[in-house]
Amino acid sequence: MQAENQPGADAARLERLVARQAEKRHLAAIWAARVGLAAGMTVLDIGAGTGALALEYAALGARVLAMDPDSASLAYAAAEAARRGLALETIVGRAEALAALPAAPDRVMLTDALHHMQEKDAALRAIRTAMKPGGALFIAEYDPAGPGAVGAPMARRMDPAEALTLLAAAGFAASAAEAGPDEHYTIIAVP
Ligand SMILES: C[S@@+](CC[C@H](N)C(=O)[O-])C[C@H]1O[C@@H](n2cnc3c(N)ncnc32)[C@H](O)[C@@H]1O
Repeated sequence: MQAENQPGADAARLERLVARQAEKRHLAAIWAARVGLAAGMTVLDIGAGTGALALEYAALGARVLAMDPDSASLAYAAAEAARRGLALETIVGRAEALAALPAAPDRVMLTDALHHMQEKDAALRAIRTAMKPGGALFIAEYDPAGPGAVGAPMARRMDPAEALTLLAAAGFAASAAEAGPDEHYTIIAVP
């Protein structure tokens, strides 16, 4: 019975993810501007999910490498990219095991994804290794100091001080955390 219901359950789950992540689409332009993401750049979006933001970076003229362990989410993003004629390639995998990329990224976007990772330190080290000099890593996370009206549950939010400590341990030089829209803080880090 469960196996018969699985395709329907998978489709419903994907539909929920698409709808939830689409609510954040407006953040892509704000975050792209904050980190200097521009046409012609290679952008690695880690934890890209269904591609709500990754597709917007591609629409700005970037070549986007969208990475996520969730193959169903990435398949949705790839289909949308094809439909819209956008340059987006998908990589199924975890940041902790980041392998050789088709191109070194100019910008790495890690938005609302770091707090999901089990091995945050390993993930940040792998990201730093994949980056080239002059590249920048952009992190956005929901702020535990926010009211909790939107976004990740309070219990899962990561304090900016913890993110900055992890970045320093992985060898990044990071900016101070800056308040972002919708209860976020953002950090820009260079390898
Ligand atoms: C809340 S969604 C964020 C989606 C998108 N980045 C955004 O800002 O809306 C978190 C994503 O991180 C992905 N994720 C979880 N663990 C990961 C890991 N170890 N490496 C890469 N992505 C991961 C999840 O599959 C999910 O798609």
